[in-house]
Amino acid sequence: MTMKSKTLTVLLFLCSSAAVMAAELPALIPAPVAVEQRAGEFKLDAGTRIAVQSPELNAEAEALAQRLRRATGFKLPIDHGKATHGAGQRIVLGIEAGLPAEGYRLSVDRRRVQLVGVSPAGVFRGTQTLLQLLPKEVESATPSRSPRWSLPAVQIQDQPRFGWRGLMLDVSRHFFSVAEVKDFIDQMAKYKFNLLHWHLSDDQGWRIEIKSRPRLTEVGAWRVGKVGRFGSFAPPAADEPRDYGGFYTQEQVREIVAYARARHIAVMPEIDMPGHSLAALAAYPELACEPGSFAVNAGEQLLTWPAGGPLSSVVDNTLCPAKEQVYEFARQVFSELAQLFPFEYVHMGGDETARNFWAKSEAIKALMEREKLPNFNAVQAYFVTRLQKIIAAEGKKMMGWDEILEGGLVSEAAVMSWRGMKGGIEAARLGHQVVMSPNDFVYLDLMQGDAVVEAPVYGTVRLSKTYQFEPLPEGVDARRVLGGQANLWTEQIYNQRQLQYMTWPRAMAVAESLWSPKEHKRWEGFVPRVEAHFERLTAAGVKYSPALYDPSFKASEKVPGQLMVELATEVAGLSLHYSFDGSLPDGYYPVYTAPLAVPKDAQQLKVISYRDGKPLGRMMVMPVAELRRRLAAK
Ligand code: ACM
Repeated sequence: MTMKSKTLTVLLFLCSSAAVMAAELPALIPAPVAVEQRAGEFKLDAGTRIAVQSPELNAEAEALAQRLRRATGFKLPIDHGKATHGAGQRIVLGIEAGLPAEGYRLSVDRRRVQLVGVSPAGVFRGTQTLLQLLPKEVESATPSRSPRWSLPAVQIQDQPRFGWRGLMLDVSRHFFSVAEVKDFIDQMAKYKFNLLHWHLSDDQGWRIEIKSRPRLTEVGAWRVGKVGRFGSFAPPAADEPRDYGGFYTQEQVREIVAYARARHIAVMPEIDMPGHSLAALAAYPELACEPGSFAVNAGEQLLTWPAGGPLSSVVDNTLCPAKEQVYEFARQVFSELAQLFPFEYVHMGGDETARNFWAKSEAIKALMEREKLPNFNAVQAYFVTRLQKIIAAEGKKMMGWDEILEGGLVSEAAVMSWRGMKGGIEAARLGHQVVMSPNDFVYLDLMQGDAVVEAPVYGTVRLSKTYQFEPLPEGVDARRVLGGQANLWTEQIYNQRQLQYMTWPRAMAVAESLWSPKEHKRWEGFVPRVEAHFERLTAAGVKYSPALYDPSFKASEKVPGQLMVELATEVAGLSLHYSFDGSLPDGYYPVYTAPLAVPKDAQQLKVISYRDGKPLGRMMVMPVAELRRRLAAK
């Protein structure tokens, strides 16, 4: 044996003994509170049994068995009660008092996987961790024989940091089917979200059957279907078919609520009022302050933000706070919602109310005189206060976007802070319950990378920015902050693949911000776990954005006339290869090391990221004219 091969043998021995000691721990998202790795592994095979120590956990055991069966083909039998202590490989589920809400303890050794929680919800969250300990093929919808089905020996103690961990899904701007909503819920469950905020009405469509108001879905659920850049479409012609849309029947709503509930996810409905109500007005025009012609918006310009001025609307899209029949309408709607949704809160919107038509309304003028309302904020507050009473009479608590703070707010109402955190901070100071959902961190409708590759929307929130989401700002009373959520508006989301692409991986960053201890959060530790989960998403057939591999571009002009461009990546260790000559760069092209001087006659900068000789990012094609435009816009 030569010296060299001896060294190699020692190294191999060291590596393999290390492997026996502790197999590499699979990536867990959100990161648990405490993980202790042990020696060995638990091998799952067709002889493994699931043992349920409490009948409360039958549904969780069944769900776990089904997930495992789908991916492994093993039909694991479920034993109940006493039969849980026999010999052989077992996954044991039990209830243990004294653990925190939704918390669980998971221990894996060679013979046994033991999962206990204080409640079925805790055990369910633990099963999601258990599944993440298995190879990525467990995500597959069809049985796979390739992997060794084993879990590393480990002891995990876990509990959520916040009780409200939500995602909002807008089904108004684009409609998503029952199956698509269920799939969204399935993906949420994997990352321990516990709340689906369902945005069911807006200017572009009313999506829930209200039996006392049938025209809401006969008329309000349908619009002209258009494709392109939403918000910039030509107004539909009178003869264009209004055949795009859809709605959920009450039976379907119950089905979705039950589906979510089985995954320990609550569903909060939102009906947005008094603004964003054009679909309702198309159905019931008498709810507007003044007569007019109202049609469901198809993506033509509606709201405008004049520079420095207040928001204004091209057509009136508000329910009229001065009309009694509006409150009767709201009572009908919220009373049916209260029957359908067991969750304690309902959301009434309250955001972005344009007041330009109120300014022309005699009814509003009379209301202001009668109620001594000094301005339109007070008019909105009057509306919100009356709505709160209607919702309370239905046995529910009311939540609204942070605009409901303007003009004063009744103390029973809860606030969802979206225009940054400031509304939430103020609301908490005033004693309201708060959910943090700041647009600059967790608006999933915004682009994840540069507009030259993304479906263009008005802003960008990269993954690294979302990962900085901290729902509890310094100095805010923690008892007031229920938690946080990310919002997926769907103006520019036309199909389920894009819905997934916009959600992942950013929702992983949101999940970790809401579940994991703040002290554990570290971007450098998060990125490799996200990359491991990319493979899990692929196995699950779920689309995700690879934008974290793409560079950002910063144009500058060092000396007059010399355009410079600076590239940066949010992930360390990538090499950016580029060209200015129109050809497609690969791993042999020059590597970016410092700001580039753009050659005088160049038309395009093309850039692609590599790591270890493999392309990772997308081919970024940046027109030089676009760099100049951005420089001029600065
Ligand atoms: C919102 O994004 N208008 C709540």
